[in-house]
Amino acid sequence: MKHQNSKGRALFRTRFGAVAATVGSAVGLGNIWRFPYEAGTHGGGAFLVCCLIFTFLLGIPVVCAEFIIGRGARSNAITAFDRLSHGARFWSVAGYLSVIGSILILGFYSVVAGWTAEYFFESLTGQLNLSSQQEFHAHFAEFCEGNWRPALWTLLFLAVNFAVLMRGVAKGIERISNILMPVLFVILLVFCVNSLTLEGASRGLRFLFKPDWSQLNAGTILAALGQSFFSLSLGIGCMITYASYFSDKANLVQNATVTAVLDSLVALLAGVIIFPAVFTFGVSPEAGPTLVFEVLPSIFAQLPGGMLWSILFFFLLTIASLTSTISMSEISIAFLTDHYKMKRTAATCLNTGIALVLGIACALSFGVLSDFTIAGKTLFNLLDYVASNIIMPLGGVLISVFVGWVIQRKYATDQLTNHGTLRSALAPVVLFSLRWIAPVAILLVFLRSIGLL
Ligand code: PHE
Repeated sequence: MKHQNSKGRALFRTRFGAVAATVGSAVGLGNIWRFPYEAGTHGGGAFLVCCLIFTFLLGIPVVCAEFIIGRGARSNAITAFDRLSHGARFWSVAGYLSVIGSILILGFYSVVAGWTAEYFFESLTGQLNLSSQQEFHAHFAEFCEGNWRPALWTLLFLAVNFAVLMRGVAKGIERISNILMPVLFVILLVFCVNSLTLEGASRGLRFLFKPDWSQLNAGTILAALGQSFFSLSLGIGCMITYASYFSDKANLVQNATVTAVLDSLVALLAGVIIFPAVFTFGVSPEAGPTLVFEVLPSIFAQLPGGMLWSILFFFLLTIASLTSTISMSEISIAFLTDHYKMKRTAATCLNTGIALVLGIACALSFGVLSDFTIAGKTLFNLLDYVASNIIMPLGGVLISVFVGWVIQRKYATDQLTNHGTLRSALAPVVLFSLRWIAPVAILLVFLRSIGLL
């Protein structure tokens, strides 16, 4: 297979590679770290149901919309909006929003990826050999409050991210995703089986799967929308950028569906791993962003050969984070290289530099900067909130309006059916949703939740 199309644009080498990279972008800390703690703070079952509804009803169509824009225009997000709207100024706003959103996410995401790398290192060097839940709790708090180590790991993680990005699309990103994503999936299955044998398993499963509708309010619904979009890497042009590397033969609807199914499955597995343990070890499900880092080591501690599992798991999670950060970075790098004709090295340096400043500030927001809050949120929480609950849904509205209303229906259908060579029963449903359901629903949820409706 070629690595470039006739116009010289880089392409993913194989069909499997393209899907693996998309799934690699979607599956990451969002599923394994963010989903359990968001579900924990928003009451479990009801939150899960909302996430699933949003993922399948709104998420899949919006992924398709991003694919249509990206593969159609074969360019970065900003140029793509520009090209397909024939230069209408307004639409480049959507593109710029996506570049800003992606850098904000990269900032706080690298911090958590850094925590993961630290836990990988600690498992390797035997420092995670603690026994009680209290010890694990204290250990994580001490690490976070220690300031320099979290900051250093953020830096190291971004350095590795930089190194992979420099190798380009096919060699770096595709190769890593192909091999390690399936391994991560298998190891999650093993942990899942183990968690089901824990003494708190039934309480954990009830919390996750039995919706308590009294927990449902505007905040929970917005959080679920934000989570679905975050987890699918939606609304900030990530899928636009990746689709620009798809081959002409790629089946867009199928790729979107596979991505949504696998992504949801990984989040569900993470939930089934975490919540039985939460109830067994007496942790509050509402512990917030630190939840997974306090609970997982307790699970490993009681497994035979625990340290090996711990090493393997934190290694794979670090790699899963890397496949996601690579995709977020690619949004601005593709923009800078396509639009400003910057060299890939310079664009990658700029992207990494900004992420580093934001990342270190976020890392310190669990330590020295913990009292520095804006609108009651620490820097870390603020970046997450603005990107996931504001920029991503807004981006989702713009992207669906763009494909549903601005570009011609024939253009969108041609992309979804590869100019009539594919038969897709879902294509008309997707286009209907993009016109009538997705933009209205996302906008309503968003306005209601931020109190404007
Ligand atoms: N979807 C990724 C995850 O779940 C996060 C991400 C967000 C990646 C936005 C790219 C863009 O971890």
